[in-house]
Amino acid sequence: MDKEISTQRWHENAQTWTTLSRAGYDVYRDVLNTPWFLRFLPDVTGQFGIDIGCGEGTNTRRVAQLGATITGCDLVQTFVDAAQELEAHDPVGASFTQADARHLPFVDNHFDFATSFMCLMDFPNPDQALKEAFRVIKPTGFLQFSILHPCFVTLNSKRDQDPVTGKLGRTVHEYFTHSNGAEETWTFGTVPPELLDTIPKFNVPRFHRPLSDWINDIVTTGFTLEAIQEPRATDQEARDHPSVADTRDTPLFLHFRCRKPE
Ligand SMILES: C[S@@+](CC[C@H](N)C(=O)[O-])C[C@H]1O[C@@H](n2cnc3c(N)ncnc32)[C@H](O)[C@@H]1O
Repeated sequence: MDKEISTQRWHENAQTWTTLSRAGYDVYRDVLNTPWFLRFLPDVTGQFGIDIGCGEGTNTRRVAQLGATITGCDLVQTFVDAAQELEAHDPVGASFTQADARHLPFVDNHFDFATSFMCLMDFPNPDQALKEAFRVIKPTGFLQFSILHPCFVTLNSKRDQDPVTGKLGRTVHEYFTHSNGAEETWTFGTVPPELLDTIPKFNVPRFHRPLSDWINDIVTTGFTLEAIQEPRATDQEARDHPSVADTRDTPLFLHFRCRKPE
């Protein structure tokens, strides 16, 4: 897929994404994925970080609230503007700039750590973004990132219910197929029906690839793979937020923590 089309789609998605996520409709993010990601982080108190693919900045600001100073960057200026506006209104120690994850405008060894929430599977050649993250963090610093779980979210996979037990899970096909920018049209599952006609849907280019590609790129870049985790809703979270109950059975997200050696 043409890199520019991927850029254009995220530009088109940005305003609606900002409005809906800030209205609380990105329930997987707010209830499950971000809390797990933040608990998985090493101590960042007093550290200087970069958040790659920061979107409208909510997650970047959550990291700042843990005691870090952090710069969020995103390909799309509309997201950067929204993040800067929120930070100006309620400063927590984050700043924001426009940048492509594959060409970061920072010198080598500039940051203590890097985060990236649900971004690296959204564009072609994520190996270049891993190399750039490796370059801009200091030796002994870490990169922690989340992606759609490549084993369970392919271009041909869907939420499913076991007909016998009634348990929610997923069926998965085409694990080995690289989706190379095929577009999916959707919105957050909890947007109420009366809003659905009035808001544009997202068109999200998908760049699915198998788990081995991710791990081999991490290792080839020079990172040490330190830990992984697969967020899973608790019984209580599943009861309070039925839309995340499927992660009790099958994970949708995968988190990596990688370390740049000394
Ligand atoms: C699923 S959103 C996640 C946003 C945010 N991290 C969050 O968790 O709310 C993916 C983000 O990646 C950004 N993005 C896509 N391609 C990018 C690239 N090549 N460089 C930097 N950001 C990119 C998009 O503009 C979008 O903001």
